Amino acid sequence: MNILLLGSGGRECAIAWKLRQSPLCADLYIAPGNAGTAQYGTNLPLSLTDFEAIKKVCIEKNIHILFPGGEDTLVAGIYDFFKSDDALKHIIIPGPSKAAAQLEGSKAFAKQFMQRHDIPTASYREFDAASFEEGIAYIKQHPLPVVLKADGLAAGKGVIIAQTAEEAVEAFSAMIRDAAFGDAGKKVVIEQFLTGIELSVFVLTDGTNYVRLPEAKDYKRIGEGDTGLNTGGMGAISPVPFADAGFMQKVTDRIIEPTIKGLQDEGLVYHGFIFFGLINVGGDPYVIEYNCRMGDPETEVVMPRLDNDLVSLIVKMGQGKLDEVAAQHSHQSACTVMLVSEGYPGPYPKGKLVQGFEKVSGSMLFHAGTALKENEIVTSGGRVLAVTSYGETLKDALELSYENASSIEYEGKYYRRDIGFEF
Ligand code: AMP
Ligand code: GLY
Repeated sequence: MNILLLGSGGRECAIAWKLRQSPLCADLYIAPGNAGTAQYGTNLPLSLTDFEAIKKVCIEKNIHILFPGGEDTLVAGIYDFFKSDDALKHIIIPGPSKAAAQLEGSKAFAKQFMQRHDIPTASYREFDAASFEEGIAYIKQHPLPVVLKADGLAAGKGVIIAQTAEEAVEAFSAMIRDAAFGDAGKKVVIEQFLTGIELSVFVLTDGTNYVRLPEAKDYKRIGEGDTGLNTGGMGAISPVPFADAGFMQKVTDRIIEPTIKGLQDEGLVYHGFIFFGLINVGGDPYVIEYNCRMGDPETEVVMPRLDNDLVSLIVKMGQGKLDEVAAQHSHQSACTVMLVSEGYPGPYPKGKLVQGFEKVSGSMLFHAGTALKENEIVTSGGRVLAVTSYGETLKDALELSYENASSIEYEGKYYRRDIGFEF
C-alpha cells in the first residue's frame, strides 16, 4: 500500500516509524515531514489544507491511504472532499467527516454532544456576542477557579483557567469583544474547574467497532513540577499507573462506548482515531476534550507500545471490520522526553546545529522540529526531538531516555527532568 502521511511533528515521525515496519507498507510519503521522517519515507512539500495539491499527489503517487496527522486538515473537511471525488473516494482516510470532526473543532459542539449522550464532563454554559451581558453575570456567580474556552481551534491556546472573577471577565471580553482568538473565540464555553490527574485515551474506530490503543499521560507545562506556561507537551509515559483495569472499565462504559454509539445514532461519519482527553476526579473519569487525531507527544509512546500492525489496523478500519482485530499492547513501559529550544513556548531561535546522534544508544529519537541543512541536522521548531525508551518498568525507561537526552547537543537545549516523577 502507498501511504501519504500529513504533518511534520514528533507525532508524524513516530507514526512514520510505525507504518514503515508494516509488510503492507510500500511507498511512504510524508508531507511536509522533517529530518526524522526522511529516514522512513520521502518528504514532500505540501500545505496541509491545500486539498487540490493533496489530491494531485494522491493521484500521481497512487496513494491508498491518506493519513492526516493533525486536526487542521480534518476539521477543514479533507474526508468529505475525498469521498465526494470519484478519483479519490477509494482512498482510506483514518479520520472523521467534517461534521464529526466538530468534536474537536468546536468546544460547544463537543459539550452539547456529551450532554445529549450523558457522557461525564464539567458542567458548562456557552455564550456569544448576543449573550455577552448574561455571560458576565454567569461568571460573577461562578465558583473559582473558572475555565473559559474559545469555541474553535486555537492551537492549544484557547483555554484560560481564571483564578478570580476579574481575570475571567477580562478574558471573556477579550475573546468576544476584542476577538483575541479570532473567529475561534466568537463563542465561549464557560465551565466548571475539575480537580484531578489527566490522561489521554485513544481508540481507532470504524464507526461501529473500535480498538483501544495504549493510554498515555503527557506533561504539558514547560517547568518542572508542572509549573509555568502550557506547551505542546514536554514528555509522555505509557501505561499510566493509575489507569488500572477498574478505571479503564469505567472509561469504556461511560465514555468510549457512549461516544461511538452517539456518533452512530446521530449519523456522524467517523472512521479514525478518537483521542479522549480525560481527567480522573476521585476515581471517576470525565472528558476534558475530544480530539479527532492522535496526541503529540503521546503518539511517541503509544506507537512503540502498540504491537498490532498499524497499516493492517487502518485497512480493517476501512473495511468496517475492526471487530476482527484484538488490540495488542506491549507489556513494556515507554516514556518520551522532549528536547526543546530555549525560549519555547515563547519565541525561540532556529537553525541550531544538532549533534551527538552517534552517542545515543538504546533509545529511539523521534524528530519534531528538525530540518536538514547541507547534510546536517538543525533545529527548526520549539519542540526539537522526542527521546523515547522502553523499559521493564517506567523507571528503567526514564533512566535510558535521560541518559540519551544528555548526549544530544545543541545550543539552548532544554528539557524537563521530572517526567514520570510522580509515579
Ligand atoms: P483543552 O484545550 O480543552 O485540552 O484544555 C487545555 C488544558 O486546560 C487541559 O489539558 C487541562 O489541563 C485544562 N483544563 C481544561 N478544561 C478544564 C477543566 N474543566 N477543569 C480543569 N482543567 C481544565
Ligand atoms: N498532547 C495533547 C495534544 O496532542 O493535544
